[in-house]
Amino acid sequence: MKGIILAGGHGTRLYPITMAISKQLMPIYDKPMIYYPLSVLLQAGIREVLIITTPRDQEAFQGLLGNGSDYGCSFQYVAQEAPRGLAEAFILGESFINGEKVCMILGDNIFYGDSVEKMARQSTDPDGGIIFAYQVADPDRYGVVEFAEDGQVLSIEEKPQKPRSNYAIPGIYFYDHEAVEIAKSLQPSPRGEIEITDISREYLRRGKLQVKVLDRGVAWLDTGTFDSMMRASTFVEAIEQRQGIKIGCIEEVAWRKGYIDDAGLRRLAERTLKSGYGEYLLGLLERGA
Ligand code: TTP
Repeated sequence: MKGIILAGGHGTRLYPITMAISKQLMPIYDKPMIYYPLSVLLQAGIREVLIITTPRDQEAFQGLLGNGSDYGCSFQYVAQEAPRGLAEAFILGESFINGEKVCMILGDNIFYGDSVEKMARQSTDPDGGIIFAYQVADPDRYGVVEFAEDGQVLSIEEKPQKPRSNYAIPGIYFYDHEAVEIAKSLQPSPRGEIEITDISREYLRRGKLQVKVLDRGVAWLDTGTFDSMMRASTFVEAIEQRQGIKIGCIEEVAWRKGYIDDAGLRRLAERTLKSGYGEYLLGLLERGA
């Protein structure tokens, strides 16, 4: 399966912070935001990743992550000229996807919890589409899914004024290759974007959409505003300080998954020794786990 991280957009809800730099390069506690969604793809076993950025920020992302070889992966980059909607990821990614199945994750979404890896790994071979539902207090800000009593999906709506449930759709989507053709056939919504909700809706119409409810132990955080970004940082700090582990640590995931060996991890550690980040990576080698 291929992976796409959508990391463009204007980030207007974070102005003036994001007037000159991409939101997804901003720190969430001790690492850039994009590390978190990238770590989920790596945990899912996805090693070929396309990173979609604004034209302005592409070089900065390349400077941060390179071609992926440091992590035993392959990273490619493509620029989105303007934020024309989440569904455009599949059009921009067409040649990269190359007829295979694809997982698209938003560059500003954080997932944390014991079951995240399993959830992702078990979704990499969708017959149609697999999306998720997560209970939130403010569903009107998201795509919202409505279930019948027997769990069947009744409707999916984008940012409804009157949500039919509290189940929001988090920013991770597993689709088969049909997503590209579906995306191409979409008309922009009234807000001028081609909506990912419409892709999921088309799979639903075809009877090929599976919606999995994320269990309560999973934290899904979004980082698009000052407050949510601060809350996400505080959350990561609390867990990392208390447990002495790191969340969203792509170097660690690459090593644990066997994409890089001990020498590869040591090389990554050496460039970040002064901040303490590298010490953590060396500690993994010393403990052997
Ligand atoms: P949003 O949070 O909806 O948009 P944004 O990041 O531009 O923020 P704001 O509302 O503050 O202006 O986007 C969710 C994610 O998807 C985010 O990581 C940016 C990305 N995105 C794109 O890369 N291209 C797009 O066309 C859109 C709409 C979003």
